[in-house]
Amino acid sequence: MGDVDRPTVVVVGCGYVGLNTAAGLADLGAEVFGVEADPDRLDLLHAGRPSFFEPDLEELVVACVEAGRLSFMSDLRGAGERADIAYVCVPTPESTDGSADLSIVEDVAHTLGEVMPSGSTVVLKSTVPVGTCDAVATWLARDDVDIVSNPEFLQVGRAVASFRSPDRIVIGSWTTEAGDRVERLFAGVDAPVVRTDPRSAELIKYASNAYLALRLSFVNTVAEMCELGGGNAWRVMEGMGLDRRIGAAFLQPGPGWGGSCLPKDVRAMAATGLAVGADMSLLDAARHLNERRFDQIVSQVEGALAGSIEGRRIAVWGLTFKAGTDDLRVSPALAVVGRLLDAGATVLAYDPMVRSAPDEGIVLCDTSEAAVVGAECLLVLTEWPEFADASASAAARTIARRLVVDARGVLDADRWMAEGFEVHTVGVGHRSED
Ligand SMILES: NC(=O)c1ccc[n+]([C@@H]2O[C@H](COP(=O)([O-])OP(=O)(O)OC[C@H]3O[C@@H](n4cnc5c(N)ncnc54)[C@H](O)[C@@H]3O)[C@@H](O)[C@H]2O)c1
Repeated sequence: MGDVDRPTVVVVGCGYVGLNTAAGLADLGAEVFGVEADPDRLDLLHAGRPSFFEPDLEELVVACVEAGRLSFMSDLRGAGERADIAYVCVPTPESTDGSADLSIVEDVAHTLGEVMPSGSTVVLKSTVPVGTCDAVATWLARDDVDIVSNPEFLQVGRAVASFRSPDRIVIGSWTTEAGDRVERLFAGVDAPVVRTDPRSAELIKYASNAYLALRLSFVNTVAEMCELGGGNAWRVMEGMGLDRRIGAAFLQPGPGWGGSCLPKDVRAMAATGLAVGADMSLLDAARHLNERRFDQIVSQVEGALAGSIEGRRIAVWGLTFKAGTDDLRVSPALAVVGRLLDAGATVLAYDPMVRSAPDEGIVLCDTSEAAVVGAECLLVLTEWPEFADASASAAARTIARRLVVDARGVLDADRWMAEGFEVHTVGVGHRSED
């Protein structure tokens, strides 16, 4: 085992969360072994390359590898034998009933229980239902190994920045000593630390993501009111957000929430709550509203076209679930595009981070300009900054009909209208003047 100041940390699962954690902890001084089961991902990691895009992550990984503090392997047993601390960062996907599938966590815990040294600590960073630390204690079957919950709150697209400057670090432990051991890893990070029991830590993660989803569904409910009845939801949100009890973040109208976490975590929290007899209808309502939101965006396109979508050629800008990432998992953009394709549209799409079509029905274009050629409507589905700077006059020359549905509010409507475009912005009713 390593010394207290330079512990040996094993990170199991080197995806978005694990790789960022591994590189972040190595950067803070720990000796880190990343364990990755996928051979293709592992090959890339040996070459210093993440299998996904995150700003600054590749550079950080390379620097930590060169400094001799970070290496990668597939051998969980061999890594676990040397671990002072083992971070579990493996997937916890959605089961068919909505609950979290913990089978990978269980497998990893069984193996770690067989090999980890006495006095070591297992840390759960994967998002897991309340009570999973108790289950891990059973799976580990070791009285001499501590278990700590340290949930992850990284924002995709700014993962490295989220590690270095998080809003908070949550540490849930049964003993003070085990919590202290984990807290020491983050000694160089300036952030409030919330120390609690494991169950509360697990629930802080689910409750935070569920609250963000509820908030966005609320914002989109206001947006729908404005779209149908007039008013400007962006102004409404500005007015709301200045209330210090509400705050300005996460108040943007849009095409619905998605990504690899919010939908699965909302379902998993609902399943956990139902299992203990809590009324989880609030979360069910948010999910229902979100599904409707995808349909509403399609209706807006239909309304803008003043007719059926069938046979229409639609340009789509943005496929990732948000800007700053190449992550397409549970992307609202793909939910909307899927509906357009089902309705018989031809979709020509461009996304700065997507190099192969995620759906065979989509015609992927190399540039934003190429996507609009001959289109009857331009639909913006991801808030990439380059779309804000795109030339409206160039689009005006090649598009078949000067019509835009901006489902992210990213375009300067005045500039596009000056080029003769009819612009429908999410959350803005047509009776609104601004
Ligand atoms: N992506 C996010 O933004 C985010 C944020 C917070 C929390 N989380 C949670 O963190 C967990 C991991 O999410 P992710 O996005 O990093 O997933 P991911 O799919 O990007 O990465 C998981 C990695 O674990 C590897 N893996 C699977 N089984 C393994 C095993 N037995 N041994 C070693 N490696 C194994 C996979 O090959 C993959 O590389 C999930 O519980 C997720 O809900 C994710």
